[in-house]
Amino acid sequence: MFGLWDRYVLPPLISCACSSKPMMKQREKTVPEADGVVLEVGCGCGTNFSFYDADKVKHLHAIEPHAPMVERARKEMADGDYAFSSDIHECGAEAVPLEDKSVDTAVVTFVLCTIPDWQASLQELRRVLKPNGKVLFSEHGLAPDEGVAKWQRRVEPIWKRMAGGCHLTRDTKTMLEAEGFKLDRYETMYLPSTPKIAGYASWGSAGVA
Ligand SMILES: C[S@@+](CC[C@H](N)C(=O)[O-])C[C@H]1O[C@@H](n2cnc3c(N)ncnc32)[C@H](O)[C@@H]1O
Repeated sequence: MFGLWDRYVLPPLISCACSSKPMMKQREKTVPEADGVVLEVGCGCGTNFSFYDADKVKHLHAIEPHAPMVERARKEMADGDYAFSSDIHECGAEAVPLEDKSVDTAVVTFVLCTIPDWQASLQELRRVLKPNGKVLFSEHGLAPDEGVAKWQRRVEPIWKRMAGGCHLTRDTKTMLEAEGFKLDRYETMYLPSTPKIAGYASWGSAGVA
């Protein structure tokens, strides 16, 4: 059961926070590369849907465990009249309802910061990806500057409670490599007009090592 915060405040709050101009630019750098059978992990309210290249996407499976966000994502998919077929599954990334080696592209944006058992989720991605499949990622995380990192560690406990479990100190590269992915492209920067504690961005693509 969801309280008022989870049902009515969290979805628009996250949607709004994740739709800033710099974050939309980050989506533009990754999501249009998705092709074939695509799995989007933790799709939230469906902010990425409009960034897919319909000529490349054969089918989109989007998964999201938070029921109020699933409702919004389904509405976005219906209202958006997108030119690719899709299913939106209400489930977490720790148990993906897809067969082994059935996915060409996994899309992971601003979500590895939040998933509680990120190790299990990345193992699931390895399971469902085809041998030449790829993960496209765009995340925020631990800053390389100790002055910023120190504040990230201080603020994280309260941030997590307000932002649906989002961590500030996770390191995407370390996480992907620890779970057997090989980075093919990896770029980083501080997002403009964004507080540094939440604005150290990394993006790129990775394959199964
Ligand atoms: C900051 S939001 C980002 C949403 C979306 N990926 C985007 O780019 O706008 C984090 C999302 O992760 C989802 N999430 C939380 N736990 C998850 C899990 N175990 N598996 C998959 N997604 C999860 C949340 O419900 C939320 O939609």
